[in-house]
Amino acid sequence: MIFLKLGGSLITDKSQRETAQIGILQRLAKEISEALRAKPEIQLLIGHGSGSFGHTAAAEFGILDGVKTKEEWRGVREVWAAANRLHRIVMDTLLEAGLPVFSFPPSAFAISNHGEIATLPDEPIRRALKAGQIPMVQGDIVFDRGQGAAILSTEKVMARLAKKLRPQRILLAGIEEGVYERYPARDRVMPEISADQIEDIQLEGADSTDVTGGMAHKVEQALALAALLPEVEVRIFSGASPGNLQGALLGYALGTRVIA
Ligand code: IPE
Repeated sequence: MIFLKLGGSLITDKSQRETAQIGILQRLAKEISEALRAKPEIQLLIGHGSGSFGHTAAAEFGILDGVKTKEEWRGVREVWAAANRLHRIVMDTLLEAGLPVFSFPPSAFAISNHGEIATLPDEPIRRALKAGQIPMVQGDIVFDRGQGAAILSTEKVMARLAKKLRPQRILLAGIEEGVYERYPARDRVMPEISADQIEDIQLEGADSTDVTGGMAHKVEQALALAALLPEVEVRIFSGASPGNLQGALLGYALGTRVIA
């Protein structure tokens, strides 16, 4: 089984509020279809980030430290609605390409506690997979036992699901070719990165609004995934170059492998 994340940087224009990259999504959908045609035995779960939808709304409402007031709950709804608008676009584009995707937005069934997932029932997703369907999750805002609501990145959702579903590979597709030795200078893509190397490289933030922390945080999250699931191949690569996603799904070693 493969878990594939379509990063917010890849499927939205992060410099423009609520702008989806429809053309890119259509191409990615085609590449996924081609890979599945070549290897029909691939089981796939897809998650997508929120880019200029959820991140922009969350930055505006500043609800990362907990939600109490009516106004803050309005903010939660705005973030949820923005994330959901992108989800609708992604779902429709993949469905139009003939992919058998089913929607599982974490806000509908996951609960967190101070930002960490407390429960996430997986039976519907298991059944969808068993029926040959492609479950779709997303970065989302969920009800939280400790702080009212919390934003969960796609990586967090995938980490939880991976513990239960045991994929062989987790592919994180963004717009960067992989993890660079120096970022944002984009100096040399590293074929592998491990937790003890992270001190030696320079990763600074994101290019634009990112409430879950930008490039440095994404690498940390990927490292956390790898640490939690040492037997899983975790890879950060670019879905922006045509053909890459199809190649990655078929097993090519693109981008940077993340090792705990
Ligand atoms: C963020 O999800 C979710 C919200 C802001 C609602 P991700 O952290 O997975 O999204 P990207 O890939 O950075 O856009």
